[in-house]
Amino acid sequence: MIDLRSDTVTKPTEGMRKAMAQAEVGDDVFKEDPTMNAFQEKVAEMFDMEAGVFVPSGTMGNQLAMNILTQPGDEVIIDVTGHVYNYESAGGPFLSGIQFMTLKGDRGVMTPELIRTGFRGHNDWDPRTSVISLENTTNKGGGAFYTKENLLAIRKLADEKGVMLHIDGARIWNASVASGIPLSFYGSIADTISVCFSKALGAPIGSMLLCSQENKRLAMRKRKMWGGGMRQVGILAAAADYALDNHYKLLEDDHRRAKSFTEFISGLNGINVNLDDVATNIVLFDVTSKTVEETLKLLSSNHIGMSQFGPNTIRAVFHFQVDDKDLEDVKKGMNSIFK
Ligand SMILES: Cc1ncc(COP(=O)(O)O)c(C=O)c1O
Repeated sequence: MIDLRSDTVTKPTEGMRKAMAQAEVGDDVFKEDPTMNAFQEKVAEMFDMEAGVFVPSGTMGNQLAMNILTQPGDEVIIDVTGHVYNYESAGGPFLSGIQFMTLKGDRGVMTPELIRTGFRGHNDWDPRTSVISLENTTNKGGGAFYTKENLLAIRKLADEKGVMLHIDGARIWNASVASGIPLSFYGSIADTISVCFSKALGAPIGSMLLCSQENKRLAMRKRKMWGGGMRQVGILAAAADYALDNHYKLLEDDHRRAKSFTEFISGLNGINVNLDDVATNIVLFDVTSKTVEETLKLLSSNHIGMSQFGPNTIRAVFHFQVDDKDLEDVKKGMNSIFK
């Protein structure tokens, strides 16, 4: 099957498995895993941030950030499509006693003008706004990314209001490649960033919370409390490191294929898609002549996997295990269904 349901479906390659097998390991709860220690430092350096905390999932990275940046009763400003708000099993209220102020940005991307409308007052009866949480790239927003100017202006607003800035950077690699913004810039404007190695980069497991040394101490304690303290994790660091060294450079091809796919389907009957909206590796399109269920079934009989993303919306996500030949086969499949 050509699996475009998500960029989380990739399987570890031979090279990655070899790197995992050869990794030197130790007990990471004792901070004795040399491969993990070096990897956390390496990624923190890439973002020019003080520290990195390896975690099993993007959800744990985001939830640790919410926890260490807030007090119970606080409010976090987030776009209404945000993963932290929609898809983390209400972890914010449950784990940290916070609530969300949701705002409607453009494909998941908020502006400082919009964010300004979300701040609360200072009365006893107001929740305390303490964090702005951005997603870059946006998942539900179809892979859109923040511009440098926008991020600088949002940081300025955060400073003016005295609040923290978190980035859910599950796909920040894609954002950096598509925008040309270096990773160190994101590190310079955010208090915490959660990054994932298991999405477009293709590692089997693993995310990292990037933060200050002080926040790392808080995060390490909470990570243990929440069951995220792991032992010989050097094998996971080796996989993620291999992904950074070998797959990061392939993201540009994913973006090119996503664009080419969109160009092709924009000429088919019964498809509604905006080429300009496709910025990275995620394509969202509407079906108008068939139901989503029907379309997914027909795609599946053509050995193509995509996923439902709304009543009329389908999501296709490109990743390094879909090559140019697969792309042509997907186009053929779409053509046979919508000709
Ligand atoms: C934008 C975004 N943030 C966070 C996550 C959570 O990652 P995980 O599934 O590793 O918990 C995802 C997962 O797809 C995501 O798309």
